[in-house]
Amino acid sequence: MDALLLVVFAYLLGSVLFGEVVAKSKGIDLRAVGSGNVGATNVARALGKKYALLVFLLDLFKGFFPILLSRFYFGLDSWTTFFVGLFAFLGHLYPVFHGFRGGKGVATAFGVLLGISPFLAVLSLLVWLLVFKLKGYVSLASLSACTFAVVLSLFLLPFKLFLMSLIIGVFIFYRHRDNIKRLLEGTELGFKR
Ligand code: G3P
Repeated sequence: MDALLLVVFAYLLGSVLFGEVVAKSKGIDLRAVGSGNVGATNVARALGKKYALLVFLLDLFKGFFPILLSRFYFGLDSWTTFFVGLFAFLGHLYPVFHGFRGGKGVATAFGVLLGISPFLAVLSLLVWLLVFKLKGYVSLASLSACTFAVVLSLFLLPFKLFLMSLIIGVFIFYRHRDNIKRLLEGTELGFKR
């Protein structure tokens, strides 16, 4: 297995926007609905929770599967795993198959984390569920879980994977800048359907 090839594969797989593909198959342009994002949350707004779960799992797989391959062939604490995780995630944000206009990357980042540390992933999911139950906003839950995962990864993961988490975390916050603005203004969208 060639390391560079695996990184390219991770990027290409990340570049498949399942939200857009599934919505299009139902005749819906996701970018014209709700937040305009191509992720599972906006699929929930457009098509309901069943399709949202499907898209979430597919987007998660884009991060999880390449990391599993990288762990198997190159080991967890390797630069290959660092770049495979990063590029699977960046594929979703800047997808070559969709004019480089991608999503916010939360589900794919979660897949990467699940592949690296199921323990940390489950803890982060619990934080996500708690914040979502208390506040009712997916974006706030995602940002809280993301912060939690980055901080804990400093203590629980090899340093280069902490670095990867930190870079991913910065991109996630940047991609949620409109959500953050809406949260502060009290105008953030829910997803009742
Ligand atoms: O993962 C994206 C989520 O945190 C927010 O989605 O559609 O409300 O911007 P959305």
